[in-house]
Amino acid sequence: MLSLILSALLASPVAQGLVVPQLVELQKIGTQDDIFPYLAGDAPYFSYPNDYGIPREAPESCEMTQVQLIARHGERYPSKSRGRKLFKTWYKLSNYTKTFNGSLSFLNDDYEFFIQDLDNLEQETTLENSVNPLNPYTGEMDAKLHARDFLQQYGNLLENNTNLTVFATSSRRVHDTAKYFIDALGSDYNATLQVIDEEPSAGANTISAGYSCPAWNESAFSNITDAYSDKYLENIAKRLNKQNPGLNLTSSDSFMLFSWCAYEISARGYSDICDVFTQDELIRYSYYDDLSNYYSDGPGYPLIKDVGSNLFNATVKLLKQSEELDQKAWLSFTHDTDILNYLTTVGLFDDGNPLNATYVPFRDHVFHKSWQVPMGARVYTQKFQCSNESYVRYVVNDAVIPIESCSSGPGFSCPEDDFYDYAASRLQGLNFAAACDVTSVSNVTSLTYYWDYNTTNYNATLLDQ
Ligand SMILES: *[C@@H]1O[C@H](CO)[C@@H](O)[C@H](O)[C@H]1NC(C)=O
Ligand SMILES: *[C@@H]1O[C@H](CO)[C@@H](O)[C@H](O)[C@H]1NC(C)=O
Ligand SMILES: *[C@@H]1O[C@H](CO)[C@@H](O)[C@H](O)[C@H]1NC(C)=O
Ligand SMILES: *[C@@H]1O[C@H](CO)[C@@H](O)[C@H](O)[C@H]1NC(C)=O
Ligand SMILES: *[C@@H]1O[C@H](CO)[C@@H](O)[C@H](O)[C@H]1NC(C)=O
Ligand SMILES: *[C@@H]1O[C@H](CO)[C@@H](O)[C@H](O)[C@H]1NC(C)=O
Ligand SMILES: *[C@@H]1O[C@H](CO)[C@@H](O)[C@H](O)[C@H]1NC(C)=O
Ligand SMILES: *[C@@H]1O[C@H](CO)[C@@H](O)[C@H](O)[C@H]1NC(C)=O
Ligand SMILES: *[C@@H]1O[C@H](CO)[C@@H](O)[C@H](O)[C@H]1NC(C)=O
Ligand SMILES: *[C@@H]1O[C@H](CO)[C@@H](O)[C@H](O)[C@H]1NC(C)=O
Ligand SMILES: *[C@@H]1O[C@H](CO)[C@@H](O)[C@H](O)[C@H]1NC(C)=O
Ligand SMILES: *[C@@H]1O[C@H](CO)[C@@H](O)[C@H](O)[C@H]1NC(C)=O
Repeated sequence: MLSLILSALLASPVAQGLVVPQLVELQKIGTQDDIFPYLAGDAPYFSYPNDYGIPREAPESCEMTQVQLIARHGERYPSKSRGRKLFKTWYKLSNYTKTFNGSLSFLNDDYEFFIQDLDNLEQETTLENSVNPLNPYTGEMDAKLHARDFLQQYGNLLENNTNLTVFATSSRRVHDTAKYFIDALGSDYNATLQVIDEEPSAGANTISAGYSCPAWNESAFSNITDAYSDKYLENIAKRLNKQNPGLNLTSSDSFMLFSWCAYEISARGYSDICDVFTQDELIRYSYYDDLSNYYSDGPGYPLIKDVGSNLFNATVKLLKQSEELDQKAWLSFTHDTDILNYLTTVGLFDDGNPLNATYVPFRDHVFHKSWQVPMGARVYTQKFQCSNESYVRYVVNDAVIPIESCSSGPGFSCPEDDFYDYAASRLQGLNFAAACDVTSVSNVTSLTYYWDYNTTNYNATLLDQ
């Protein structure tokens, strides 16, 4: 943590004596990490909490032969639509004429809302656009630290080929994350970025298959998720309204306060609004996010396995070609939902117990959405060789997550041929193009960018989405 703060400090205008940091702010930064896992993947990056401690490095006398990364963009400002709702709630508070009481009393002290420039909506947080020059949680710094970690873990894979092609979707923040990552690799590497279109017309040749899936319906299972009680949101509003008569916050305002808390940490380094919540409320909010994503982008929605099959199938093909392909590291940047879709097809977090809206399943609860795809999420596929045998396994946000039915290899990996059988069984009967009705938006029926980038040069126009 200290090194994060120091690096932010050195890179910031403070170092040039332009801004005087408030001691009180410095004391708050770094004190809220415990709540990141409850904030619906909107807070800064954190490592997977349920880590068995299996080392990420290749096991003793084994050597990495290929690595693949599917990563989320880094810490960012809210989307435009979320920003609109946040402002509605903020205006209620900023127009309140009395003195605030209770957990909102920080608003009495010259508080400035963390969204100060609407142009920042949808964008990565950077050292430049941060509200506080000491903010250690920028998407920019996260991507750069990730690149250093990547080199430390997997740098050997680049020893015979310092040319590296990196892939990003055409979302500006996704693109920017890949750029920061590439910058931090340094001048020993010659990395080129291929920008893969995320417009529906890209069809199957995409890292963001959800955009090419007109058959997808976010509320297909609202018949299940609508039953989740929002009593906890009512209670928050009631409590704050009681402490501050005339405030009139609603349940939707309460919901927005969680987003405010999460995004403000990524823009300012800390957020006083987070102190409004009790631990019970954080758990209920976090479970709502798990539940709704389980049924919109996860194992609870059968179509999602088809959506994720587009990318999973390609990653399996890359594994099979690891010897013939010169490039040994395949790095791709995209959105959280695309990673959820992919992981759903891989099957790492699907124990077959459907999430239930009527209670929090503390015991049977494998699908923690925000643990899988926090800002800056990084899902690695490792292939390594020990003697003459090869093995495959996954590392999600720094933790080795074994495949439940295939972990007999070193470091709880899956023997290569068994892995291909496993993959074939996961892909059995799936069909992205047909299930998603892709042909209604595109004629492109296969994912080719990993194989034709050197002749195609992907440079799609960037989108603010
Ligand atoms: C509150 O303040 C903002 C700007 O400060 C204003 O645009 C808004 O209309 C005000 N009223 C309400 C009810 O939000
Ligand atoms: C603020 O809280 C104190 C103590 O609970 C109470 O006495 C006071 O009336 C409250 N102020 C308002 C405006 O409600
Ligand atoms: C680099 O080339 C050497 C010599 O051919 C080989 O032994 C080594 O495995 C290669 N490294 C990688 C990462 O492929
Ligand atoms: C990188 O690629 C360029 C062009 O394809 C090639 O000329 C160069 O030799 C490559 N460099 C390395 C270190 O492989
Ligand atoms: C770097 O990569 C680009 C694109 O592949 C290539 O054109 C260029 O020759 C490479 N430069 C070096 C020094 O390898
Ligand atoms: C919910 O709706 C889906 C269709 O969107 C249907 O397949 C499913 O059976 C319904 N489930 C319940 C519990 O009503
Ligand atoms: C809150 O609601 C009460 C009763 O509906 C109303 O009189 C009051 O003006 C409202 N306050 C604000 C700040 O909107
Ligand atoms: C949730 O649990 C209740 C009570 O055990 C049960 O009746 C219901 O069918 C479950 N719903 C789902 C979607 O599993
Ligand atoms: C996987 O890709 C192969 C071609 O490499 C294709 O024949 C097969 O239909 C694909 N399977 C799925 C489930 O996408
Ligand atoms: C698919 O290709 C046909 C024939 O080239 C063309 O007429 C049609 O517009 C294309 N459809 C889409 C969705 O691109
Ligand atoms: C492009 O890449 C493929 C496979 O990686 C390789 O076989 C081919 O020679 C490359 N073409 C060029 C023009 O570099
Ligand atoms: C992408 O590159 C092609 C060929 O180099 C060029 O014609 C096209 O305008 C470029 N598109 C964008 C969006 O930069």
